[in-house]
Amino acid sequence: MLPLFRKDPANYLLKIAREYGDLAYMRLGPQHAFVVSDPEAIRDILITHQGNFTKSRMLERAKVLLGDGLLTSEAEFHTRQRRLVQPAFHRDRLVRYAADMVDCAARARDTWKPGVEFDIHQEMTRLTLAIVGRTLFSADVSSDADEIGHAMTQIFELFDTLLLPFSDWIQKLPIPPVRRFEKARDQLDKIVYGLIAERRQSGKDAGDLLSMLLLAQDESDNAHMTDKQVRDEALTLLIAGHETTANALTWTWYLLSQNSEVEARMHAEIDRVLGGKLPGFEDVASLPYTSGVFAESLRLYPPAWAIGRRAREDYSIGNYTIPAKSILLMSPWVVQRDPRWWPEPERFNPDRWHPD
Ligand code: HEM
Repeated sequence: MLPLFRKDPANYLLKIAREYGDLAYMRLGPQHAFVVSDPEAIRDILITHQGNFTKSRMLERAKVLLGDGLLTSEAEFHTRQRRLVQPAFHRDRLVRYAADMVDCAARARDTWKPGVEFDIHQEMTRLTLAIVGRTLFSADVSSDADEIGHAMTQIFELFDTLLLPFSDWIQKLPIPPVRRFEKARDQLDKIVYGLIAERRQSGKDAGDLLSMLLLAQDESDNAHMTDKQVRDEALTLLIAGHETTANALTWTWYLLSQNSEVEARMHAEIDRVLGGKLPGFEDVASLPYTSGVFAESLRLYPPAWAIGRRAREDYSIGNYTIPAKSILLMSPWVVQRDPRWWPEPERFNPDRWHPD
């Protein structure tokens, strides 16, 4: 099955779920794997009984880059970090990030000229990198933006290799791809540690994510994060916050290009609500159709199309026992194309999200 899975993994999971139901077993090499497609069973795995699972192998491997940031860390350490990072996503902070996002978007838009063709994915990647750089590190990053962009491109090119089986060994080889990866990672580290040192010295709250991470204090022991922890969380936010959003925006443009009626309605709403001004955080609530366009794009083309977990102990789903160490695969791509929950699932229909 592995070659088929590798070739078109999302659709392969879809085929398995359609053919074998909400709980389907397969072998992935030597591993037991289960595709879980029932929303309630998924909620139980990810939330209710989360203590019974560790993260996916892919996230374990991502530690070579991300260390112990929120995406890769486990158990009590994860809970503690989560509590520390939470204030960075407080509503007041979001208002500020939204202003930065709009500013970056307006600048990107101003470089587009009518009649000129360009690669929208490249453009969205550049945009979300600029946004994540601004929201994480404020203006500090502008002088490092090119270097960060270059290092990130190198890392993404090589990251896939490091997720392959045997990558533990590959990683130890002094071969050029590994060297390039390490060089890019060192480059990012140098920038991030440099920013941390500067900010610690100045002691000022720049209102960005980096300041929040440095100021965060654990209630139980009043401890702050070490430089390494701040580095891991900052790099996690940089990586997690930029590729996902770039993909989501790219698919949204694609869907709009294929659905001119939706596009026209979205523009009509934007023109009516904003009357030509740039949007702010507070305008989002008055743009239900536009929000629906984005939600519908995330439904049809979820950037994180699969989420994996590994069972620590035997685990029951209905009458079935999932043996300890099994891999559990849950796929938004599969669930969000299920006609039981989404009538006419292939249809791009933002009206499904209308508040009424
Ligand atoms: C459309 C955009 C995005 C999508 C589809 C997305 C998707 C996901 C998914 C599916 C997970 C769960 C992974 C797992 O537990 O296996 C996750 C976790 C996470 N994402 Fe995102 N994400 C998006 C944007 C962002 C942004 C903008 C940021 C940061 C600025 C971010 C930061 C994180 C972090 C820190 C985690 C780990 C949370 C935790 O376990 O405590 N993501 N994301």
